[in-house]
Formats: sequence, C-alpha cells, structure tokens
Amino acid sequence: MIRQLYRVLGPEGSRPLNRLLVLQCGAAVLQGVAFALLVPVLRALLGPRPDDVWPWLTAFAACALAHALLQGAAIAGGFTVGSRLSRVLHRRMADQALRLPLGWFTAGRTAEFSRLAGQNVIQVMSTPAHLLRPFISSLLTPATLVIATFFFDVRTALVLLVCAPVLFAVQAGSSAVMRRLDLGRDAAIAESADRVLEYTRNQPVLRAFGRTAEGHGALDDALVAEARADRRLIARGLPGLVSFSFATRLVFALLLALGVSWQLDGSLTVPTLLALLVLLVRLIDGVSSAAEAGAGMRIARNTLERLGAVLDEPPFPQPAEPKTPRDASVEFTGVGFRYAEAGGDSVDAPAARPVLNDVTFRLPERSMTALVGPSGAGKTTVAGLLARFRDTTEGTVRIGGVDVREIAADDLTAHVSLVFQDVYLFDGTIEENVRIAAPDADAGALAEAAALCGLDRVIEELPDGWATKVGEGGARLSGGQRQRVSVARALLKDAPILVLDEATAALDQENEALFAKAVRSLADRKTLLVIAHRLSTVVRADQILVLEDGVITERGTHDDLVAAGGTYASFWERRARAHGWRLAAAPS
Ligand SMILES: Nc1ncnc2c1ncn2[C@@H]1O[C@H](COP(=O)(O)OP(=O)(O)OP(=O)(O)O)[C@@H](O)[C@H]1O
Ligand SMILES: [Mg+2]
Repeated sequence: MIRQLYRVLGPEGSRPLNRLLVLQCGAAVLQGVAFALLVPVLRALLGPRPDDVWPWLTAFAACALAHALLQGAAIAGGFTVGSRLSRVLHRRMADQALRLPLGWFTAGRTAEFSRLAGQNVIQVMSTPAHLLRPFISSLLTPATLVIATFFFDVRTALVLLVCAPVLFAVQAGSSAVMRRLDLGRDAAIAESADRVLEYTRNQPVLRAFGRTAEGHGALDDALVAEARADRRLIARGLPGLVSFSFATRLVFALLLALGVSWQLDGSLTVPTLLALLVLLVRLIDGVSSAAEAGAGMRIARNTLERLGAVLDEPPFPQPAEPKTPRDASVEFTGVGFRYAEAGGDSVDAPAARPVLNDVTFRLPERSMTALVGPSGAGKTTVAGLLARFRDTTEGTVRIGGVDVREIAADDLTAHVSLVFQDVYLFDGTIEENVRIAAPDADAGALAEAAALCGLDRVIEELPDGWATKVGEGGARLSGGQRQRVSVARALLKDAPILVLDEATAALDQENEALFAKAVRSLADRKTLLVIAHRLSTVVRADQILVLEDGVITERGTHDDLVAAGGTYASFWERRARAHGWRLAAAPS
C-alpha cells in the first residue's frame, strides 16, 4: 500500500511522504513508550515508596508531550501530502489522457477514468491523514509495548512475542479474504453506477419508445448483483473477523491466568501485574484497530492499484527519430484493421472480425476525395486510422510519404484536421469552441472559417452572437448549428489535410449545397477526404472511393462510376429518383 502511494506520487512526491512516514512512526513509538512508562509509575505508586514516582512521572509527561507535538505535525503533514496527492494524481491523469491512444477510450474505460479522477482521487487523498496514521500507530505502538515489557517481566514478554505473530497471522488471513471480496464488491458497485448513469442518460430514448421497464431491467440486474456481492462479503468475511476477535480474547485470558498464577507463587508483584494488564489492554486495542485500519487500507490499496494500472497503461508508441511529412498527400497501402475490443475487454474473447481489408488508395495533395458506402462499411474507421487514433493491424498509412507511426504526435496533429461524425462541444461560448483549434487566430481568420461553413449566419441569428453559451456538450444548439461550429473549428485549424466525416449530415439542403461549394473550393489549398451521403458533395470530388464491408469496390470520378453501372451507379439512381427535382441544380 505504501509502495503504491510512492508509485502514484512519483519521484517528486516521495520526499514529503518520507517525512510524513518518519513523523508518523516517531509519534507511534513515543505513544508506546509513554504507555510503557505507566508500568513504573503504577509500580512506584502502589509500592512501598510512592515518592519514587516523580522521576517516572516526569519522563512520562515528557514523552506524552513529545508524542502530542509529533502527532500534531503528523496530522498536518497528512493533510499536506493528501492535497499534494490529489494534485499530482489529477495532473498525471490528465497527462496520461493525452498520451493514451484514442482507441483506448471505450465507453467503459471513460466511465472508469472519470470515476477514478473524481471520487477515487478524493478517497485516496484522505489516506495519508486518516488511514496511514492509525495504521502505523496500530502496528508500532504494540510492537514498542512488547519490547518494553521485556524490561518489566521477561516471561510475559516472551508469551506476547509468541502470541503476537499468531494474532497478526489470523488478521492477515482474514484481511486477504476480505480484500478479494472487496474487489468483487467494488466491481459490482461500479457496474451499477454505470447502469444508473446509462439509465438516466438514455431517458429520452427509453421514454420515446416506451421501454423504461427494459432499461430498468439491466439496472435491476446490476443492483441484484451488487446485493449478492454484499451478502458474499458478509458471509465469507465474517468467519475471519470472528476468529480474530476470538484469538485476541484467548490471548488476554491466557495472560491473565498466567499472571495470576505467577502472582500467587510470589514471582510477580501485584502492582506489576496490574500495570502489565493495563499494557495488555492497550496492546490488544492496538492490534484490533490494526484490523480496522487494515480494512480501510485494503480499500485504498485496491483503488491505488486501479489508479496505478491506468497511469501505467502504455502510451501510444512514439517514434524515436520522428520524420516530417514531405507534403500533404495521403497513402493507404494494403491496410487491414480489426478492433481489439470488439469481443469486449476480455482477453479470451474471440478474435474480432476485420473491419477493413486490403484498403489501398492515394489522396493526392490539393485534391478532393469522397468516401462513400453503406453504414458500417468502415468509413469512420478509415478516417481514424488516417489521424492515427489507432494503429493499423496490417499495411501502412503514410502522410507525405512518411509512415504515420514515424511522425511525432504534435506534427501529425498539425497536419490533420478532423470533423467528427459525433460532434462534441465544450461547455462554453461558440467562440471558445471554435478557438480551441487555434487560440491565437485573428478575427479575420475566425470570420473566414465561419463564413465557409455558414456559421456566420447562425451567429447573426443568435442574440448573443459569438458569445452564445452552447451548454454542456452543445446541448443548447440545434444539430445543424452544432455541426457548423465543429466544422468552423476544423477550418480554423488550417491543417493541410482536412477530413470531414458526415460533416453536413445535419444541415438542410440549402446550407448543404452552399457548404459543398465551399468545401470544393478548399481543395485548391488542402487535401480533402470527405465522407458523405449527400450527392451535392460527392459529385464534386476528383475521386470517389466506394467502400463496402471494409473493401474498396469501386473508384473513379462520378461520371466513370455512373457509366460503370455498379453499386455507385445504383446509389446515384436511387438518390436521383428521390431528389430528382433538385439534381439539375446540384452539380453546378
Ligand atoms: N470502437 C469500435 N469497436 C468495435 N467495433 C467497432 C468500433 N467502431 C466501429 N466498429 C465496427 O466497425 C465497423 C465499421 O464501423 P465504421 O464506424 O467505420 O462504419 P461507417 O462506415 O463509418 O458507418 P456509418 O456510415 O454508419 O458512420 C462496424 O461494423 C462497426 O460495428
Ligand atoms: Mg461513420
């Protein structure tokens, strides 16, 4: 547990922790010495010469005072280390979030990450002050007492020396069982917390379909599993707890019997016996609170282990000798890909089905390529591989002739700008959301980006304009407005490669046609990969790639593909029939 604290604190946090441990150990030993001094004090008081008590009493008072001072310093130190712990953990987690491959962030892991960063960091933060101190004193104070007993009665000390390891062994056994049970219960609690979250978050969907009962079903199951884990904890953990308290009672009874018999045969005086019994009560108290503190430490250790596991998760491999892309062309060569987590996070899940198969294409610099295909064909996956959210399973992705794995992360980010299918906005104003891409951009660049995607018209309509608050996740904007904010953000970044994944899906026909024209004009200075279903966008592309079930089945210009009479041609025909009256105007 202490090792884990050192691990999560890292090198910079270890000095204050060292100091804290020294203080806490010192306070615990002094407490033991102070208690031990009670024996001569009692012996003198109850003996024939009560005046002998003064030197002992003075020593006792000095010890008690020193203990109080150290204890005070240890408590203050505990809070200092605690708050440092939370700062360090939050910073390390933020750093780690930045280094982890985006593919790592599945829904479950993201929930775990936020749980760790929130409630668990707070829990760990209180460890040095509230757990470590009682735990250390519950170990060191009894140990000091046992040593001190040697000075007063060697026989008692020897009995204690034999009994103490037995007590600790019983305690360790029961705590190992409890730790395993705690782990199971932690997992069950996490699961029900996730289900509650899912249930609340999905209320609109569940209600729209009148399925609140089903949604409740998963939650019910999780709660039942949690209750079962609770019962298991009590049923299997209880014997350990009971045997520990039984063992302590037994030791006490044994020493009492021995002490009385030694007193009767005259080898132990009554004052010493009384004083030793006082020590014994203190000692058993100490060992029992070790059991309690141990329980808290166990829970904290589980948490620290989970935190450590996330912090030790290998970051995305970065190149040792990064290379710089020569230009803004993109090349996929024989790319195959499967999602590792398709079968869940379990190791023995069946190997995931390949999502992409031998995908080869080239996006020449300053050209526009449209990627089309049915839902689930793997279009978003292609976009993700281009930006190296994940690494390919087979084949290579090159930007400007350089394998993306050999490009430094910053350089790659500077080269590729992405508009995601699922728009995410931060709780802030529209301007803040757009400026994330380039905080230092001047007003002119901002206005230009907004004009290109029609965000300028949205701004005009909103009473607060650029300062409009978007709400959490952009909830206060309409789908189309949100999308335009995210496109403006990508445009402002002004990277040489721009990937638009269904960036116009939420726009109305009129805005979409305007936007399609604007995008086309961008191809004069950027390499564009546009994933789209809308014809007005697709027909303008220099090259169209048709992706079906992870394989590129057709490629060419709009005219080539219509003439070829394949999938694209029938797709085009269906669209033409549906929107016949608009088509004449669209491909202008
Ligand atoms: N994170 C993931 N884990 C596992 N499988 C995934 C993941 N993301 C996508 N898939 C699977 O990969 C396949 C391709 O998904 P992808 O999102 O690339 O399709 P798409 O062509 O973008 O579809 P759409 O047009 O609906 O956006 C699908 O079968 C999908 O189930
Ligand atoms: Mg997609």
